[in-house]
Amino acid sequence: MRPTPVLCGIGISLPDRVVTNDELAARLDTSDDWIRTRTGIRERRIVDPDTATGDLAYTAAQGALKSAGSAEVDLVILATTTPDHPCPATAPHVAHRLGLSGVPAWDLGAVCSGFVYALASASSFVRSGAADSILVIGADTYSTITDPDDRSTRAIFGDGAGAVVVRAGTATENGAIGPITLGSDGSLKDTILVDAGGSRRPLSGDCHTADGRYFAMRGKTVFRHAVERMAHSAEQVRDEAGWSTGDVDCLVAHQANARIVHAVAERMGLPRERCALNIERLGNTAAASIPLALADAAGSGQLRAGNKVLLAAFGGGATWGAAALTWPDVTPVTI
Ligand code: COA
Repeated sequence: MRPTPVLCGIGISLPDRVVTNDELAARLDTSDDWIRTRTGIRERRIVDPDTATGDLAYTAAQGALKSAGSAEVDLVILATTTPDHPCPATAPHVAHRLGLSGVPAWDLGAVCSGFVYALASASSFVRSGAADSILVIGADTYSTITDPDDRSTRAIFGDGAGAVVVRAGTATENGAIGPITLGSDGSLKDTILVDAGGSRRPLSGDCHTADGRYFAMRGKTVFRHAVERMAHSAEQVRDEAGWSTGDVDCLVAHQANARIVHAVAERMGLPRERCALNIERLGNTAAASIPLALADAAGSGQLRAGNKVLLAAFGGGATWGAAALTWPDVTPVTI
């Protein structure tokens, strides 16, 4: 029988520095009331200039390995769109720092859907028998790509990292990862875009003043597509898992905006109380958002071993995806 991918450890890492809405409002044309009402965000964590995505990814991964009770994995996949450098990928260096030199390690870019894409990749490796244990990390530092003077993006994003360990197991044990669906629509490329700094528009001259080097988005369009795609793909994996809406104990949707998460739940007929929501404290942490929300929900007791969980994500590309799993008996580790 083919092995089933099983989630068996989870770790997180957050920068120490808390930036409140009031602190943002002191230098931008915004207010605590606007940000809380329109997004549900009260504060976010922001890295100091000496900390890069790879540093957060490394400590989150240490936590996940500790939580799993294992120091060894066969593969490392790091979902991020804010790598330490444009070249090379960040994952091999993270693997090296973890003492995992020699294992295949790569970055995966699917913006805010990155964690679900990475989980799907890891699950396929396990199902095929090509790997027995995989470290899946979602890490981003959007404070490094958002314009400090842009209230519409600066208010939304925060920095952070979350990681899980996926191992080969059986379909009946807690932690078993069930159906996963992924999708994309490149016609929406321009709705979330860092225009400059790639091969289409290389940075030249003074990159500090280069137009287009910051993250830009069309908020309303993203909002609409995020709700539609996350609800639809979550329903798809729910049905494939053979669950009814009433069976679902917890929806862990990408923390893009509290209104988006609630709208997804409403479309699915799920009560709001069954949504994991930590955006108030962390903002949108891109590829890190789902593992961070999982760890918070598990830490607070909202998620318990055996619970039926749906993950749903939407991000730039546009990309989206959803996964069904039963929650394992694991303790999240923060390092
Ligand atoms: N403070 C005050 N005003 C702000 C603001 C802020 N932090 N951010 C944006 N605004 C302003 C805009 O400048 C715009 O003003 P204008 O009409 O004078 O041009 C206005 O608010 C936009 O209002 P509206 O479009 O009605 O806001 P909204 O309810 O759609 O909320 C977002 C805007 C960005 C919060 C919302 O669209 C959103 O969350 N979208 C999804 C974004 C996302 O998650 N992206 C990540 C990828 S998954």
